[in-house]
Amino acid sequence: MPMIYKTFKPTTSTVQFAALSFAFAGVLASAALWRPASVSAQAEPAPNTTAYYTQKVQPILQENCYRCHGGVNHRGGLHIDSKAGLLKGGHDGAVLVPGSAENSLLIKLIRHEGPANDPMPMPPKSKISDADIATVTAWVKAGAIMPE
Ligand code: HEC
Repeated sequence: MPMIYKTFKPTTSTVQFAALSFAFAGVLASAALWRPASVSAQAEPAPNTTAYYTQKVQPILQENCYRCHGGVNHRGGLHIDSKAGLLKGGHDGAVLVPGSAENSLLIKLIRHEGPANDPMPMPPKSKISDADIATVTAWVKAGAIMPE
């Protein structure tokens, strides 16, 4: 009778090898699970940091506001692409009250809770997402911290 018909009987060394393989796979799996969590923790700066502004707030303003309030454009007398411009405000005065979202004209306008016109809701013909509004609001509440 040829050997291949012999019943497989695990030896001590095959059992040990299997146990080791499982342990190794476990280490790999937990490393894979652990990684994304730590990366996203690093990518979530607190609202009272300049990193929050540059990583989360500025991209929203850039995408939705700069074409009318950035560079040579300053509709309503308002520059949104610099700290000086944001703190100076526009034709109606201050647009940001650091620490108070309720009293900030910029927040009222992006929530479309301000006047119907002069100044009108911002952006004029659309509304940014609730998540983006929440991000900008959290930033103002935390003191509207931004780099020079
Ligand atoms: C399509 C052009 C356009 C875009 C895009 C736009 N705005 Fe405006 N914005 C205006 C105009 C025009 C005014 C002046 C409106 C008025 O006085 O009635 C204005 C006025 C304002 C004012 C009031 C300034 C003042 O003192 O009266 C604020 C605050 C403002 N915009 C914020 C924003 C924000 C924040 C965004 C992006 C989320 C944005 N705007 C996007 C055109 C734009």
